[in-house]
Formats: sequence, C-alpha cells, structure tokens
Amino acid sequence: MVSQEVEVYQSFNWDINGILKSSGMGKYELPPLPYLYDALEPYIDETTMRIHHIRHHQAYTDGLNDALAKINALSHKNYIVGILSDMTSVPESSRDAIDFHGGGYENHRMFWESMKPNGGG
Ligand SMILES: [Fe+2]
Repeated sequence: MVSQEVEVYQSFNWDINGILKSSGMGKYELPPLPYLYDALEPYIDETTMRIHHIRHHQAYTDGLNDALAKINALSHKNYIVGILSDMTSVPESSRDAIDFHGGGYENHRMFWESMKPNGGG
C-alpha cells in the first residue's frame, strides 16, 4: 500500500453527480475507488482492479467528456444516467459515442460502488 492509495481511500466520497464543477462546466472525472486496489483480494486481484479503474474507467471518462464536448454539452442538465435514459436529448450524430462512453463510465461506477471488502457476497 502506498500513501497515495491511502489518501484516495480516506477521501472517498461518492458524488452521484460525478461532475467536476470547479471549471464552471460539467465535466466528468474519474471517481476514486471507495477502497484500496488490493482490498477485494483474493476474489479480484489488485492488477485487475487497477486495469479496470485506471485504464478502462479513465478511458470511458475521457471519451464521455470528448463526446459531450463535440456537441457543446459538457454542462448538460442531466447526469449521464438521465442522458442514457433519453438519448433524444442529444444530437443523433453523437448518440453512439455518448452511449458507449457514458455506459462504460456508469457501469464502472456502479461496479465499484456495488462491491466492498468483506461484503459477504
Ligand atoms: Fe473495465
């Protein structure tokens, strides 16, 4: 365990909006894991957790922000779940990209949130 991981764990605070508002624009950011990368061993190993969080989830986050930026919708009034539930709210030309990256973003977020060390399941 390195100090950075401890800091991430201690600063864990899920924000259902998942949106960075400090820039004045709604921009999605990679949510921190709610536990350490090795916390789910031996069921899910640390390397697998790092790959899914650092690579996959970050890629979906970046892709979602890029897709929303292309239609000037980084400040879309709905959180991504709302957008995915009503794809008519975004231009048809961007629906596939927003669906793909937004779905990947939210699926990973739910994945992290649904598990916990010693969860008993
Ligand atoms: Fe993944």
